[in-house]
Amino acid sequence: MQDIDACVFDAYGTLFDVAAAAAHCRDDLGDKADNLSAIWRTKQLEYTWLRSLMGEYVDFWQVTSDGLDYALETLGLDGDTALREKLQSLYMKLDCYPEVPDMLKALNGGGLKCAILSNGSPKMLESAVSNAGISDLLVDSYSVDSLGIYKPTPKVYQMAVDGLNVSKERICFMSSNAWDASAAANFGFRVVWVNRFGQKEERLPGKPEHEITTLADLPGLLGL
Ligand code: LAC
Repeated sequence: MQDIDACVFDAYGTLFDVAAAAAHCRDDLGDKADNLSAIWRTKQLEYTWLRSLMGEYVDFWQVTSDGLDYALETLGLDGDTALREKLQSLYMKLDCYPEVPDMLKALNGGGLKCAILSNGSPKMLESAVSNAGISDLLVDSYSVDSLGIYKPTPKVYQMAVDGLNVSKERICFMSSNAWDASAAANFGFRVVWVNRFGQKEERLPGKPEHEITTLADLPGLLGL
């Protein structure tokens, strides 16, 4: 990929492992861990889309907590307040994927500005970034919170253009969420879909330019 000045990353599922919270509670959750993670993530995302359509924004921490409560009740775990608190506090400092720090160092070394563009609330993003030790490798984290509406409205993608002062044709956007990758491509970003989970292509407007399975392949794609 050529003529790129900045790399913008989705946060959850792309830089940070959304399955990590439940994975760290395997002793409590047993064989319900994977199911809990899947229901939690699905409901969290559905609530972002539904609340955006309803005009009923609450921040991503609230949506994440609501998704967790739905998942816990589905699995008959809703009485366990200690487990709920443990999962919530783990979600505040999710592990980043192992290749992320070196990948960001390579992009920084190549003179590319790197930033996050996420549904996450500023507090959640700050906590995840600082826990992963990658603050110095990012110029900024843009949160939908200042807009009061979630991805994939084009207004969200525009935030990175305005914040970085880089035109959209010169921004490379990465997401593991296929719908986010489609919407970002439809907006006009140059998009790399990080298909970590072996998903099928979305039947949506906007086609990513490249597909990789790990962010370790990104520097090479950018000629670094
Ligand atoms: C985000 C969600 C979509 O970080 O993963 O914006």
